[in-house]
Amino acid sequence: MRIIDIIEKKRDGYELTEDEISFFVKGAADNSLPDYQLSALLMAIYINGMTDIELDILTDEMARSGDMKKWEMIEGRTCDKHSTGGVGDKTTLIVVPIVASLGGKVVKMSGRGLGHTGGTVDKLESIKGFSTMLSADQLLENVNRIGAVMIGQSGNLAPADKRLYSIRDVTGTVSSIPLIASSIMSKKLASGSDCIVLDVKCGSGAFMKTPEKANALAEKMVRIGRNAGRRMSAVISNMDIPLGYAVGNNSEVIESVNILTGKQKGDLYDLCIELAAHMLMLSFDKPLDECRDNARKAIEDGKAFKKLKEIVSAQSGDISCLDDTSKFGRAKYVHEIRSFHSGYIYSMNCEGIGSASVILGAGRSRINMPIDHSAGIILCKKTGDHVDIGDVIAELHTNDRKSIGDAEKVFMDGIVISNEKPVSRPLIYNIIE
Ligand code: URA
Repeated sequence: MRIIDIIEKKRDGYELTEDEISFFVKGAADNSLPDYQLSALLMAIYINGMTDIELDILTDEMARSGDMKKWEMIEGRTCDKHSTGGVGDKTTLIVVPIVASLGGKVVKMSGRGLGHTGGTVDKLESIKGFSTMLSADQLLENVNRIGAVMIGQSGNLAPADKRLYSIRDVTGTVSSIPLIASSIMSKKLASGSDCIVLDVKCGSGAFMKTPEKANALAEKMVRIGRNAGRRMSAVISNMDIPLGYAVGNNSEVIESVNILTGKQKGDLYDLCIELAAHMLMLSFDKPLDECRDNARKAIEDGKAFKKLKEIVSAQSGDISCLDDTSKFGRAKYVHEIRSFHSGYIYSMNCEGIGSASVILGAGRSRINMPIDHSAGIILCKKTGDHVDIGDVIAELHTNDRKSIGDAEKVFMDGIVISNEKPVSRPLIYNIIE
């Protein structure tokens, strides 16, 4: 078999066979195929798409290119969640303890931030001592005893995706529905959980900019998961505005504590209740409304916050900073961005806000770059809020004073203030159960 024939076949719009897909996925994983031929094939897929049959084969081959986790040693159904990536998205830190406090079994593997979106592993590492690497025995012990672990993704999970994703990132082929669906679902299938809840983001901070596209992506991923025998749900949620008010690492952990201790409600709280409810519904076959009520009660009665502390303590983290969040480090410089106009915040470019927080030091522009856990942005106003001249729209936190000018420019370039109040968009566009 020759890769050039596969590229030409896809370029001309034909369906690839199982053997052809398997050939190029193996060649991506073992590095026998060069970047330039994989790039050409990815572009042909980007332009011509894939049939559902091709997509199922591609996902399965990518999943099988590395370890396939199995959790037979965990009692009960295991449950996972995945967000397609957003700004200020700290839902994992809130949803995992809610679900575990109600008897769910969660093996949550997460990544680091890259580009304008944050990563759960970076957020967890804001907690002093917290280890995102556990031995296989420790993982099983923790999940069976306390219901959850929150760890980094193992090195050999879907290695074909790792290679293909790094090529897509630099060849303009990220935002393709079949390529995103196979990339995400290969990792989810390889992670081994019985139940998977997808939070598919839609809007200026997401890969999918419209509800129609986000819905199409969600449908593909749900279908792939069900065909592979997993219990699936998807929530299509708004990423035109960051979730909550904090964008950064320390500040997002603090905001998660505020939600779990009942001090903060709003969009972040509502989305977490919805995601937790779906995880509980899939795990226990209970009606969704009952699961929503249970999730709310777990916050009200303090069970979920107690569970977060158990999880953190079992992974060597310092829980005293969760009881007293003033112990988290604060950045040396706090710069207030003030409004030059009066009116309504008409729109906020979510990607711009994520990029501004990266400039301040909260994220990385290159793999493995160190990050500043105390850097980030606290939003004081969000889309739909009224501002007067001089009102503080946001605070920029950083230890690198020189970054403030650039971050402010990138932030403000994405803010539109108007006399007109914007039509409010829903937090949740659609649910696929
Ligand atoms: N997240 C992934 O893991 N893969 C994609 O292609 C997009 C988002």
